[in-house]
Amino acid sequence: MPLSAAQLFQLLPPETAHRLAIRALPWLPARHVPSLPRLKVRLAGLDLPHPVGLAAGFDKNGEAFAALLRQGFGFVEVGTVTPRPQPGNPRPRLFRLTEDRAIVNRMGFNNDGAEALARRLLGRDPARGVVGVNIGMNKDAADPQADFVHGLEAFHPLADYLTVNVSSPNTPGLRALQKREALDSLLAGLVAARARLAAAGVKARPLFLKIAPDLEPEDEAGIAELVVRHGTDALIVSNTTLDRPASLRSRLGAEAGGLSGRPLFPRSTRLLARMAVLLGGRVPLVGVGGVATGADAYAKIRAGASAVQLYTALIYQGPGVVARILRELDALLAHDGFAHLHEAVGQDAQNLADAR
Ligand SMILES: Cc1cc2nc3c(=O)[nH]c(=O)nc-3n(C[C@H](O)[C@H](O)[C@H](O)COP(=O)(O)O)c2cc1C
Repeated sequence: MPLSAAQLFQLLPPETAHRLAIRALPWLPARHVPSLPRLKVRLAGLDLPHPVGLAAGFDKNGEAFAALLRQGFGFVEVGTVTPRPQPGNPRPRLFRLTEDRAIVNRMGFNNDGAEALARRLLGRDPARGVVGVNIGMNKDAADPQADFVHGLEAFHPLADYLTVNVSSPNTPGLRALQKREALDSLLAGLVAARARLAAAGVKARPLFLKIAPDLEPEDEAGIAELVVRHGTDALIVSNTTLDRPASLRSRLGAEAGGLSGRPLFPRSTRLLARMAVLLGGRVPLVGVGGVATGADAYAKIRAGASAVQLYTALIYQGPGVVARILRELDALLAHDGFAHLHEAVGQDAQNLADAR
């Protein structure tokens, strides 16, 4: 049997394959994904054709978002972008754990910086699909909060939504911004900056917060309280984990960095359910972590997600993964008697949250 394009890419070193994919995507013909009324989603005021989005980190520099939308993603999150360009960590920093259908990365926010990304987003046609910008801080930021405010101001006019990333494990000090006091101040600063922009006539964009799967219980409660209080528009659960489940088979599991893909699924889905219970429907959730099939997407939705994102499954399956998930998800919802996806949101949240 001939190898698929996704299998051919597996033969290349991971960063080479990634670079090549970003270059090749704009040349690929558009891919048909089924248009299924049951799966149309409204998330934080955004109309999505379906709930399967591309997670941050694949198109860090905004070089391929239009092509990724043409490949069928329901929405695309570019970034993480930092105010100034930075090279990230020394290579190797990206590892495929093939036997585990997982990735370990310690990229460290390598990106071209805000100015370069803004140039690529300028003149984008919003009718072609929803594009979010995931903002972060430079490794050597003197004032982390100022870096986030810079990102918000730079991308507010250019993005459909903004994601505040306080959850990547490879920038020292970043995850500490999930602690109650730091997060309170960060969100207050961002909401105030957004209000200033709105007063100046810039259309207000939804603000999402993306969290790590490795939180203490008191952090989880604090985050729930703060996102409600500050009117955060959605919560993305989750980023990669520093945990290494005992089930990992690949020796590359020993590499330092964040683990994504199949082994992240249980941990990120349980956190999603706990956050859904804590939030009680006041803030919508986006489920990320190990989504590779329609059943995975369905489980995230039943745990409390209104939409999902994926990254690692794109590496292992190629862009055909989106249509596959949509067909399977639609059939699962129909089988369980749901006329629309939103009826299934959170059905299993309490049970999963109780199983901590
Ligand atoms: C190579 C790589 C780079 C990533 N870079 C970012 C990033 O810059 N910002 C971010 O918020 N998440 C980043 N992520 C995390 C993903 O967005 C996602 O939250 C995580 O991989 C879990 O989803 P998955 O199991 O479908 O891959 C990255 C993930 C990978 C594998």
